[in-house]
Amino acid sequence: MEESEIKKGLMGVTVDVTQISKVMPEINKLTYRGYTVNDLCDKCDFEETAYLLLNGNLPTTTQLQEFTDAEKANRNISKELKEAILNFPKASHPMDGLRTAISILGQEDDRVWDNTEGTNYNKFVMMYAKIPTIIAAIQRCKEGKEIIDPDETLTRTDNFFNMCFGKVPEPIIVKAFNVSQILYAEHSFNASTFTARVIASTTSDIYSAVTGAIGALKGPLHGGANEQVMHTLIEIAEPKHAAAWLDNAFKNKLKVMGFGHRVYKNGDSRVPEMKRWENKVADVKDGKKWMEISNILEDKMVSEKGIYPNLDFPAGPAYYMMGFEIEMFTPIFVMSRITGWAAHVIEQTNSNRLIRPLSFYEGEGIRTVTLVEKR
Ligand code: COA
Repeated sequence: MEESEIKKGLMGVTVDVTQISKVMPEINKLTYRGYTVNDLCDKCDFEETAYLLLNGNLPTTTQLQEFTDAEKANRNISKELKEAILNFPKASHPMDGLRTAISILGQEDDRVWDNTEGTNYNKFVMMYAKIPTIIAAIQRCKEGKEIIDPDETLTRTDNFFNMCFGKVPEPIIVKAFNVSQILYAEHSFNASTFTARVIASTTSDIYSAVTGAIGALKGPLHGGANEQVMHTLIEIAEPKHAAAWLDNAFKNKLKVMGFGHRVYKNGDSRVPEMKRWENKVADVKDGKKWMEISNILEDKMVSEKGIYPNLDFPAGPAYYMMGFEIEMFTPIFVMSRITGWAAHVIEQTNSNRLIRPLSFYEGEGIRTVTLVEKR
């Protein structure tokens, strides 16, 4: 093999087949199990989308009821996990806390080595139900506030807001949050999903796969970008500074967070949908300034560099305007992406072959240890 044949970053390499989602950059569409995400955002709740991703079809009324009942029944976390969360270093990032908490869930599960599809589905339901409880608890502990236990009478999203803030917001905020969760749920073989599949391919367990995926998602080139977008907007502070800020970024060849994508080179199919809801959030949460700065950045990036915003660009500021701390944005992404990861772990397990690529060695040739070197 020639070094020139290497696809750095696996750019353009197809590594396996999947039935879960299809990214179609040429027509700017993304489908989950054949449905466009736009159709799902218009007509479905996040819970229905989660069910679809895991089960292949949208649920009947009875199936949805069973799924939401199971989610509600699994929201509570053990007192040992709560204790661990109370002892997490206050300055640590909630993604690190969440990664540790998922490891603890694995340690608490005596079926950890059982990778049969039914058991992995049950483990998914557990994680899907407990992740909102875990991240709300982590954030409240960081702020020195009492943990609020889950409330079974509330929907998944209402309950999450209640555990974070002690109240449920207006319906338009809940809908915008649900749209963001639908859009964040799945995106084929992105870095974190591929990480989960690599771990699953060793026949390790789903908790390990999700723990690894969280580590991958945390990076600013992947899910962590939604936090960086808001840091950028805060640094710019006023619309009148936006153009000059961007010129300086161009001059210094800085990456502008929330822009660019490995697959979409002519725009991210999820952005218009999220932007529509971000605007609605801005209207009710006095966020006009953030929209103005965002619009200047977007227009200039597209016209001068031909680089389009990705989903993190509207999602991060939307979460900020909803009242979340910036370091909660990527954990909130996990609340949704757990669905895609679990679907991929199950798919990988069902048609498994160890993922183990090759590398092109360019280090030293064979040499012999000499006594001089050892001294
Ligand atoms: N800001 C400025 N320039 C960017 C850019 C950005 N956000 N994204 C890409 N570019 C430029 C690169 O500098 C590169 O220019 P060059 O050819 O002159 O060196 C070119 O566009 C290709 O980018 P590259 O980084 O090679 O593309 P990639 O497919 O490897 O990377 C990302 C994709 C997502 C990692 C990259 O666009 C990025 O770092 N974006 C910012 C982080 C982000 O928003 N991540 C969330 C992704 S959903």
